[in-house]
Amino acid sequence: MGKQIHELSGPKGLPVFGNIFRLDLPKIHQQIENWADEYGDVYCLDLFKISQLVVTRPSLIQAIANERPHLFKRSGKLDQVIREGGVHGVFNAEGDDWYRYRSVVTKGLDVKHQQAFYPDLVEKVSILYQKWKHDADSGEVTDIQKDLLRFTVDITTLLAFGYDIDTMRKEGGVIQDHLEVIFPTLFKRINSPISWHNYFKTNQDKRFDQAVQEMKKIVDVFISEAQERLQSNPSLKESPRNLLESILVAAEEEQRFSIDEIRGNLMTLLMAGEDTTAHTLTWLIFLLLDKPDAIEMIREEADRVIGEAPFSEVYSQNQQLKYAEAAASESLRFKPVAPILLYEALDDVELEGITISKGQRILTQYRHAALKDIYFSYGKEFIPDRWINRERCPVHDTKAYTPFGSGPRYCPGRNLAYLEIRAIISMLYKNFDVELIEDENVEEVMAFTMMASSLKVKLKNRNYGTDN
Ligand code: HEM
Repeated sequence: MGKQIHELSGPKGLPVFGNIFRLDLPKIHQQIENWADEYGDVYCLDLFKISQLVVTRPSLIQAIANERPHLFKRSGKLDQVIREGGVHGVFNAEGDDWYRYRSVVTKGLDVKHQQAFYPDLVEKVSILYQKWKHDADSGEVTDIQKDLLRFTVDITTLLAFGYDIDTMRKEGGVIQDHLEVIFPTLFKRINSPISWHNYFKTNQDKRFDQAVQEMKKIVDVFISEAQERLQSNPSLKESPRNLLESILVAAEEEQRFSIDEIRGNLMTLLMAGEDTTAHTLTWLIFLLLDKPDAIEMIREEADRVIGEAPFSEVYSQNQQLKYAEAAASESLRFKPVAPILLYEALDDVELEGITISKGQRILTQYRHAALKDIYFSYGKEFIPDRWINRERCPVHDTKAYTPFGSGPRYCPGRNLAYLEIRAIISMLYKNFDVELIEDENVEEVMAFTMMASSLKVKLKNRNYGTDN
């Protein structure tokens, strides 16, 4: 008989309310780490009558993630909150729905589609390059985070819907504005023990409802336009060019998708692909601020692979940018943008001596382990090289590294994210020096994704250290 959850140690809370008033949502990922230091890598967190199992031990995180979908599912609260926001897609679906959605989404994100999509990505990289060149020439401050969020919205909308929304060249009234309302509200609701918004609506709740409605309208226009395209050009059904067309074709075949399911999956992709990639890039640029050696390596690689051009226009070149990719992998070890995953047990099970009952809520956080020497040599040092060769860093336990999750629900957008990251990072450092503006205080803030509070910099045209 394993240990019951309530027998595990953990932070002492108030009677009934537990630790609910101690939670500091924007810093919750750090609180989880601090408690893991105190109570170990598996502990009990009492929250308003609910004993939550908290896991930072890599082997147990893997076991839970891998035993999906039959033994564990995503948290029911997360599903409820996402559905209330009018979204039901591959991220929150379970059972048959999940299987159906996952196969279409995975196909739409495969290498073949990415390769075909690369020219569109290059065009967006070019717009960002022009913007940053202008900032560097004029000495204007660059809001890196804002620029990258717009870049990733444009990319994801193009890939998912085949529609160029062009937020990078617009101000206001764009998808990004709606997402900025939607994400923090979802996060607050997921972590609130009582669904207050069902009883009375704050201004934030009202803005959320409005943003969701606006997003639905936008997505519905995309859907009807794609339906018309497929009707007037049936040959598209043989080789759909984007995810929306793939889903519509699948909807006509045996895997029927209702209009709500089509919309739900498109909104899911937009939400899953935009914030995560933009904040990962932002964190990488932040971490590189004081790593001149790593920047030199990124530059040397970009100059060698790309040559004279300011950025790569060739898919195969992008694939060769291995050091830029390694820097991104290392950055995700320090600054994972989705550090916390929430699960619920679907049955009684005993894992690593712990008795988990059906319905048990579980929170996993992987960064706590990923920075330890027992899993990665010199765990607290930023060493991109460890992802290329193991000589200097022999301890390299990827079980302790799950920024894209693990098991059957592993992130299907990982390769697209790396494609974007390699393209942007090589372009940035090939052309510019990056300096943090004075008094910029960059902190970790958890708001659905773990993001930087802000990242404003001065870009300077690259100093080659010679006369050229
Ligand atoms: C650096 C960027 C990204 C990070 C760190 C990231 C991270 C994650 C994580 C941790 C999960 C949960 C996995 C699990 O439960 O085991 C996930 C799921 C998912 N991600 Fe990503 N993601 C990124 C980019 C993207 C992109 C670009 C897309 C697509 C456009 C995407 C689409 C999805 C989808 C659809 C799921 C749900 C998969 C399922 O439940 O079956 N992600 N991602």
